[in-house]
Amino acid sequence: MPKKHLKEYHEHTTIPFPTGFLWGAATSAHQVEGHNIYNDWWEWEQRRPRQLRSGSACDQYHLYETDFDLAKELNHNAHRLSIEWSRIEPREGEFNISEIDHYKAVLKSLKDRGLTVMLTLWHFTLPKWLSDKGGWENSQAPYYFERFVQRIVPEIGEYIDLWVTINEPGVYIYKAYIERVWPPARKSLFGLIKTYLNLVSAHKKAYHFLHQSFPAGKPVGMANNIMSFEPYHKHSLTEQLAVILNDIFTNHLFYFLTQGTHDFLGINYYFHARFRHKGLIPETVGSSPQTHDVSDLGWEIYPEGIFDVLTDLSDEVPIYITECGIASTNDDRRNRFLITYLQEVARAIKIGVNVRGFFYWSLIDNFEWSLGFDPRFGLIEVDYQTQKRHIRPSAKVYSEIIKHNGIPHTLLGFIGHSAQADKILDKLHHYEKKVKFK
Ligand code: NOJ
Repeated sequence: MPKKHLKEYHEHTTIPFPTGFLWGAATSAHQVEGHNIYNDWWEWEQRRPRQLRSGSACDQYHLYETDFDLAKELNHNAHRLSIEWSRIEPREGEFNISEIDHYKAVLKSLKDRGLTVMLTLWHFTLPKWLSDKGGWENSQAPYYFERFVQRIVPEIGEYIDLWVTINEPGVYIYKAYIERVWPPARKSLFGLIKTYLNLVSAHKKAYHFLHQSFPAGKPVGMANNIMSFEPYHKHSLTEQLAVILNDIFTNHLFYFLTQGTHDFLGINYYFHARFRHKGLIPETVGSSPQTHDVSDLGWEIYPEGIFDVLTDLSDEVPIYITECGIASTNDDRRNRFLITYLQEVARAIKIGVNVRGFFYWSLIDNFEWSLGFDPRFGLIEVDYQTQKRHIRPSAKVYSEIIKHNGIPHTLLGFIGHSAQADKILDKLHHYEKKVKFK
């Protein structure tokens, strides 16, 4: 390399993040704990092929200290996790003290390691007794949730820094009522609407109770799946209309219905969609490895999208990226993902968006709902035969970013050089994976 280039290289510094930025990873109880036998998912899974059942999952119920040690070793200063309602209230109105004690121990062990704790109160699973009564379609469901929240919050409150009431209501109704690949898998527009409105009400009730309980302030929000949308042809009115409608329903409706009950916006960012008209009705254009860089699940890798949604939702309340991650068995791809997405987050912060934290999904490989264990989202690989954890190189890249509280330029150089070759290899890889997921 000519001298001049070397000099320029060293003159570059780190792309900075704000002081006090939260860096961590996220998980949810049913996806990592194992043996959540009292919930609706467990029941649902028993009707599915063995490889699609959660079983012992990552056995984090027993191995949480191992996992939290790893998070600490990797420089994380925060962690997002959820508690499992069905363990705490396995039968209607009966609360299990030893499970409450278990969660106290789990949360205390995060605090003992100096991690900021973000806790989700509901992440997709329902106690079986409630799903037997119609789940979120039952008009009493928000009250049952409120009762659970009122019982558990005083017990664990001292360990929690940030509360997430509910996770991705829009994805839940889509998977359960439109795709019908998640319980209750019902075809019912009425049920869908009722569920959505009851989730709105559940969020509000939890928000108000948490505010009453901690008047000194522990921020409360929810985690929303936010997508970036684009028309295929900029001049097409029907495609533009499709963008507007999808943006309203996916990204804004829940916030609109719950106005005034968000101390922060929790954003889960995974998806970018383009609309292309076929006849009158626009459809989403599928991403394929021939046309786009995609994850093992075929989800397009589109870093600019996170910039778009952050700037779009920039508001008076702060934003936490409560989830963002990639399913990939190619860890180079995860490196590129982390660096390029975080570059976009930094760009948004630079122009004034108040982003306060980033939680990579996920700390460890885990149970990806109807897709079972094949998708590998983890910074840490899990060997499901032995429950051994293996730190992936990307976990170290992330750890390096955290150490610098920003992206060192050396990492950008590395990514630039390896990108082309990897892209080709990855595409080959994707074809092998695709066969598996079909
Ligand atoms: C968001 C959900 O909250 C989480 O449960 C899921 O595993 C990830 N998306 C990846 O699909």
